[in-house]
Amino acid sequence: MKILNDILAAKTTTRALERQGISVGFVPTMGALHDGHISLLKVARAVGAQRVVASVYVNPTQFDRDEDLKRYPRDLDADFAKLEAAGCDAVFVPKDELMYPCGYQTEVWVPEASRGLCGAHRPGHFVGVTTIVTKLLNIIRPSFLVMGEKDFQQLMLTRLLVSDLNLDTQVVGAPVARDDDGLALSSRNVQLSDVEREQARSIYGGLQAAQRRYYEGERSAERLVVEAKAVMSVAGLEPEYLELRSSLTLAPLNSAHQPCRLLVAAYVGSTRLIDNVVIAGDERAQTA
Ligand code: PAF
Repeated sequence: MKILNDILAAKTTTRALERQGISVGFVPTMGALHDGHISLLKVARAVGAQRVVASVYVNPTQFDRDEDLKRYPRDLDADFAKLEAAGCDAVFVPKDELMYPCGYQTEVWVPEASRGLCGAHRPGHFVGVTTIVTKLLNIIRPSFLVMGEKDFQQLMLTRLLVSDLNLDTQVVGAPVARDDDGLALSSRNVQLSDVEREQARSIYGGLQAAQRRYYEGERSAERLVVEAKAVMSVAGLEPEYLELRSSLTLAPLNSAHQPCRLLVAAYVGSTRLIDNVVIAGDERAQTA
């Protein structure tokens, strides 16, 4: 596995592949890799990428709280070992001064889709995400960009920016990877104490309860939300948001009569977790 520490090395490597007609699948990450990230590498291969490039970069501009940035787990050696074992061909690991040199000022903003959900609770977060994703795409120029559906709003924003800015990449969403107890895999899970981990299970438990109500015939967004909240509340969790949204446009919905997902964010202790499930329809075929 090639370790690419600077932008020129990353461009030289990926442009050489491009010239040879070899397709690249790109998996951007902030490190602290877990099986969910590794599943993204597999999806990249499955959709036809002949080489897989990952990036490990804890992007400071997407953290709305300094404390969160400081606490974000980092273990580069373990990340390299996991990527190598998963057959990753190259990893881009830039430093802050390369990505945001002195005098840097350009931002990429997808205003409407950044509003609400995580955007409402993490000021500036999505500008940081869409800016770094655009920069990474310009550096790597992949045929496929693979991102997890756990960060569903991020995935939707990325689809929009790729389409709006006419970038030549296909955005591929990969299903949420879960632990045996249902908890969505997240780099932040290592921050949970045993008791918090137990509480955190109720996030998926609540989402599943709403899914069951949907299968039993319930279509009211309000009642599906109440069902999910009840499960989380028993575990002592009060979600930051819990909303039914269109899977295609992210618009808020009153009822589940079109492809939609239930999306949630909740603090478990001081760790903020997000998750979502499909309630109606299967929008998975959608790509930018
Ligand atoms: O989802 C993440 O890990 C990050 O938001 C991303 C896409 C790597 C951008 O920093």
